[in-house]
Amino acid sequence: MVDIDQIRKLLERHFNSYTDAPILDGAGESVKYKITVNGNENFILKIQRAGLQNEYLNYKWLKGKLPVPDIIFFSCEKEFEAICLTEVKGKTLEKYMGLWTPEKVVEQYALSLKKMHSLTIDKYALKQNLQNRIAAAKYNLKNGKVDKDNLQPENQSEDISELFKTLLSLVPTNHEPVFTHGDFCFDNIIFNDTQISGYIDLVNGGVADKYQDIGLAVRNINETFGSGYVALFFRRYGLDKINEDKIKFYILLDEFF
Ligand SMILES: Nc1ncnc2c1ncn2[C@@H]1O[C@H](COP(=O)(O)OP(=O)(O)OP(=O)(O)O)[C@@H](O)[C@H]1O
Ligand SMILES: [Mg+2]
Repeated sequence: MVDIDQIRKLLERHFNSYTDAPILDGAGESVKYKITVNGNENFILKIQRAGLQNEYLNYKWLKGKLPVPDIIFFSCEKEFEAICLTEVKGKTLEKYMGLWTPEKVVEQYALSLKKMHSLTIDKYALKQNLQNRIAAAKYNLKNGKVDKDNLQPENQSEDISELFKTLLSLVPTNHEPVFTHGDFCFDNIIFNDTQISGYIDLVNGGVADKYQDIGLAVRNINETFGSGYVALFFRRYGLDKINEDKIKFYILLDEFF
């Protein structure tokens, strides 16, 4: 991984003096630090080999449309990319589990997605390409990058090449493009009390089928609260004709990442 001296050199280009502390939350491949300046101003520094440029472009596009962190800098270095953001006030929705009822968590989850999916897309919004995503899934399969321990329980005993064949048989033919989050999980939206204060982790966000987010939301609600809460999510989101095949497809697609 990127060595800490390189990271500090980068930070010194932007901050005169600061302290840094690693952030251990999050499941992705990135390394994250909380940067504190003047003892009380906090920033988030996220570093990974590649892919953060998309996150940067998505924050830029969303600015003024939805609550997102401000970008302090984005930097494309020889061996890594880095993005530094203002710290959003509040806690991720994940941390409201146990503080809020399951109904309230699911409602807020649905409403925050509806807000994002209701944005008017223009030519500047980043576009996600489904064929590229399927090609990346295939690459991960061929290169042993699929974490078998992390598969859904029903897929654990399946052969992953067979799962990939099933995926191909489910590729949707009709598209309902909206601005999607791309990794719509409970720890990627921040609430300050009942107000959403930040959409974060937008590496895979951009214009794509709305079921990219709906699929992951259904999976997460099922896993956390049980299938009884999915209908509430659909009601609050405002979806009455449900495309089960697309839900299956997008959940399966995520198994390869
Ligand atoms: N701007 C921010 N303000 C406040 N907290 C943040 C911010 N960015 C990240 N965090 C915290 O750090 C955690 C991890 O960040 P993030 O979701 O961007 O990375 P990740 O889940 O590791 O994702 P990736 O898959 O992109 O590597 C978040 O769940 C949140 O708790
Ligand atoms: Mg995250």
